[in-house]
Amino acid sequence: MIGKRVPDVTFRTRVRDEAIGGPNPFRWEEKSSSDYFSGKRVVLFSLPGAFTPTCSTYQLPDFEKLFSDFKAEGVDEIYCISVNDAFVMNAWGKSQGIENLKLIPDGSGEFTRKMGMLVAKDNLGFGMRSWRYGAVINDGVIEQWFEEEGFADNCESDPYGASSPQNILENLRELKKAA
Ligand code: BEZ
Repeated sequence: MIGKRVPDVTFRTRVRDEAIGGPNPFRWEEKSSSDYFSGKRVVLFSLPGAFTPTCSTYQLPDFEKLFSDFKAEGVDEIYCISVNDAFVMNAWGKSQGIENLKLIPDGSGEFTRKMGMLVAKDNLGFGMRSWRYGAVINDGVIEQWFEEEGFADNCESDPYGASSPQNILENLRELKKAA
């Protein structure tokens, strides 16, 4: 994966726009891979679903808390992506009080499929979702890759370690020390 460019896709996001007025002032906004990845060094982490326990208890809040530590290691943005639509991703971010991370809705799974990370989770009634992984991506090119072991359809377990913020941060620090 290292050295590969992220796929070029269009994400359908929902953004707040006070000009709309009324009780639900949101509109659609298309964002491209280039909007998210060009000219920046980012951490992307991908998970099986918004509101799921490991993601909500550990992965998302821990990335949020460690944001300034990542910034100190030369990371401009941290993105969380999931095969969920924009309404779900926005509701999840709001419920978790997320201020530092950006949540990317990959509702159709196109980005995840083109990354080669789409797996069946029919055993949980989820349909097609993302295998859990993390990456450091520099100007759209994968610089470091953190994939959980056991990539498989309908996996009975949910490995979580390689793509934890603690592990990715540790790797970034080691890399800086070695440079
Ligand atoms: C979890 O994050 O704990 C989880 C993810 C996918 C399915 C079930 C649980």
